[in-house]
Amino acid sequence: MNRHAIFEKNSIVLTVGILVMVAIGGLVELVPNFYLKSTIEKVDGMRPYTPLELAGRNIYVREGCYLCHSQMIRTLRDEVERYGPYSLAAESMYDHPFQWGSKRTGPDLARVGGKYSDDWHVQHLVDPRSVSPASVMPGYPFLAKAKLTGEDIVDHLKVNALLGVPYSDEMIEAARADFLAQANPDAADDIDGFEARYPKAVARDFDGNPEAVTEMDALVAYLQMLGTLVDFNLYDGKADINLR
Ligand code: HEC
Repeated sequence: MNRHAIFEKNSIVLTVGILVMVAIGGLVELVPNFYLKSTIEKVDGMRPYTPLELAGRNIYVREGCYLCHSQMIRTLRDEVERYGPYSLAAESMYDHPFQWGSKRTGPDLARVGGKYSDDWHVQHLVDPRSVSPASVMPGYPFLAKAKLTGEDIVDHLKVNALLGVPYSDEMIEAARADFLAQANPDAADDIDGFEARYPKAVARDFDGNPEAVTEMDALVAYLQMLGTLVDFNLYDGKADINLR
C-alpha cells in the first residue's frame, strides 16, 4: 500500500504515471488496427477506378469539389433515407486521398452515380443554375473544352499501385488504351478486355462530344460510378443496412 504514496504525494510523478498508463492504453487500442487484415471489411464489388474514372477523380480533387460535397453517408436515419445505404469503409479503400469531406454546402455525392443522366451532369456542371435555379454551385464550363490525352494516366495508376491499390501489370500496361476505350467504345480495339479488367464499368461518350476526350468526360464518368459498385441488395441484413 505504501508504495502508492509516492504517486499521491508528488504531482510530477503522478503526471508521469498517468502519461505512461494512457500511452499503454492508447497503444493497445491503436496498434492492432495497423496489423489486422480485417480493419477494412472486404466487400464484394469493389474494384480500383478505371483510368478514365481516376482522371475524373483527379479533376474532382483539383477543383476542390470536396469543399462543398461530402462522400460519406453517416449511419443516421435521415441520411440513409435521403442518400441511401450508409457508406462502408471498403467503399473508399482505393481513394488516395479519401474524399469524405467535412462540409455540405451541396448534397453528399457518395451514391450520386446513376441518379441523373450524363446530359444532366454536363448541363449542371456547365451552368448549375440552368437545372437547379437556386444553386450556389459555381459553373465549370471550361471542363467541356479541356481535352485530355491520357498521356500521364499510366503514371497515375503506377503511383496508386505503390500506395496499395491492386492495379495489375496488365491494367497498367493497358491504361492508356482503356482510358480512350471507355470514353469512345465504338473506336476501341479491346473493349472486352476493358470490361473484364473493370467489372461494372460503363463505357460511353459521357460529354456528348464524340470527337475528343475531355475533362468533362472524365469527371462525369467518375460521378456516374460513385456508389454503384457495391450491390446492397445482396446483403442479408438489407433492412438492417437501410434503417439503422
Ligand atoms: C460552392 C459550393 C460548391 C462547389 C465548389 C461544388 N458544388 Fe456541387 N453542388 C453545390 C450545391 C449547393 C448543390 C445543390 C444545388 C444544385 O443541384 O446545383 C450542388 C449539387 C451538385 C450535384 C447534384 C447532387 C444531387 O444529388 O442532386 C452534383 C453531381 C455536384 N454538385 C457535383 C459537383 C462537382 C463535380 C463539383 C466540382 C467540380 C462541385 N459540385 C462543386 C455546391 C457546390
